[in-house]
Amino acid sequence: MIMGFIASIVLLYIAIVAHFNYWYPEIRWDWNNISTDDISFPPGFVWGTATAAHQVEGNCINNWSEFEKGTKDDGKPNIKDNQQSGIACDHWNKYPEDIDLIKKLGVSSYRFSVEWSKIQPEHDTYDMDAINHYSKMIDALLENNITPVLTLHHFTHPLWFERLGAFEKEENIALFVSFCERVFKEYSHKVQYWCTINEPAVVSTQGYFSGMFPPGKQDPQLSAVVLKNMLEAHVQVYHRLKKMENGSTAMIGLVKNINHFEPWRRWHIIDWLISQSVNRFFNDSTIDFLRTGKFSIRLPGLAWIVHYNPKAIGSTDFFGLNYYSHNHLKSNLFSKELFSLHYKDGDIMTDMPYTIYGEGIYRAIKTGSVLNVPIIITENGVADEMDDIRELYIRRYLYAVSKAISDGYDVSGYYYWSLMDNFEWAFGYDMKFGLYSVDRSSQERTLRYGSKAFVEIVQKNSQS
Ligand code: BGC
Repeated sequence: MIMGFIASIVLLYIAIVAHFNYWYPEIRWDWNNISTDDISFPPGFVWGTATAAHQVEGNCINNWSEFEKGTKDDGKPNIKDNQQSGIACDHWNKYPEDIDLIKKLGVSSYRFSVEWSKIQPEHDTYDMDAINHYSKMIDALLENNITPVLTLHHFTHPLWFERLGAFEKEENIALFVSFCERVFKEYSHKVQYWCTINEPAVVSTQGYFSGMFPPGKQDPQLSAVVLKNMLEAHVQVYHRLKKMENGSTAMIGLVKNINHFEPWRRWHIIDWLISQSVNRFFNDSTIDFLRTGKFSIRLPGLAWIVHYNPKAIGSTDFFGLNYYSHNHLKSNLFSKELFSLHYKDGDIMTDMPYTIYGEGIYRAIKTGSVLNVPIIITENGVADEMDDIRELYIRRYLYAVSKAISDGYDVSGYYYWSLMDNFEWAFGYDMKFGLYSVDRSSQERTLRYGSKAFVEIVQKNSQS
């Protein structure tokens, strides 16, 4: 009888693990037998590059600049080596020369964000100089035949909004919506592409789960609430802007980072449960919400939230996909973090804590395709200070994008992250994502050797 019981448990275990292994394979391509030159992109495919205000402009006073001054409970600085964003790349003043650099790449579009704290420094004050500044920048882009793609929220917001509880509170959503309306009113006659919020799941997990981003909290339930509220904010902004003048012709979309979480040990049921739960929280909850209107995170003892808004269905004209890599999680139920990250021997590490995984962007495109809207790769790129893997990264990921398109997926553009080295959040200036390197003392920009692969592919695959 006992033997029968044990045998049933073992069989059940094997069945569950086999089920996971079958339905969630970790795709691996044989790169040794793939020619990454074998690529093509359809006519009209848009090539671009991207930045975000706080990372490049300089002199921002917002939730991040405050966080940069602080330390964690253990006394360690919030930002590596106590770095602060400061003047950043001085893009605020140097944007005309940066537009020349964009043109030299041969791309035809630039994704950037406007800094809410500069446009609306106080709850009741809009700063006309800041509004005019972005207006001039947009004009300069258009004069140079560079299509602007404007992001309304890229990780930062004004201190007054932070003090009110930011996206922790549902009632604050209206404040963000009215900022967006104002910006749309100012620029929608010359900007057609709009990204509402950049990576809500990153803000919620890094800001409220790992504590690596402001406000540096570690509260899974709050993290889930913030994610739900940011997605609600997206839905409300979408519908509001659509009703405004130029709204019906504008393309308005959410930007989502897809990062697949894999079990470190594919036979280990707890590794599976943890990685699937993280996937649910980070990836599926957002995609399901946009697809079905249902948002749910059910992690007993950690986070529990069920929400429904039918207006979420179809509330994105395109799916903005940011893709970098995947992560392997090894469970450790006895640690506070519950799991740790691990890297497979033979995988090539980037300078960030993840590896090169070109086939992952194909998987992510497949994941995003369930929304049945065009996918724009709004970010993809590599931190590589030595510049010895950038070319490989670019060739592999673009091969995978090209393959996705030839397999029938609707991908309409690709924006390299980033135009130039910039302030990489909790890692400070140490991460070198730029197509152009930036000398921190002279602000001189120089095209990296590895970036030439991107320029070459863009030039070969652009309509003349
Ligand atoms: C963010 C960027 C960041 C990049 C590289 C994305 O998640 O949108 O702001 O610099 O990843 O880490």
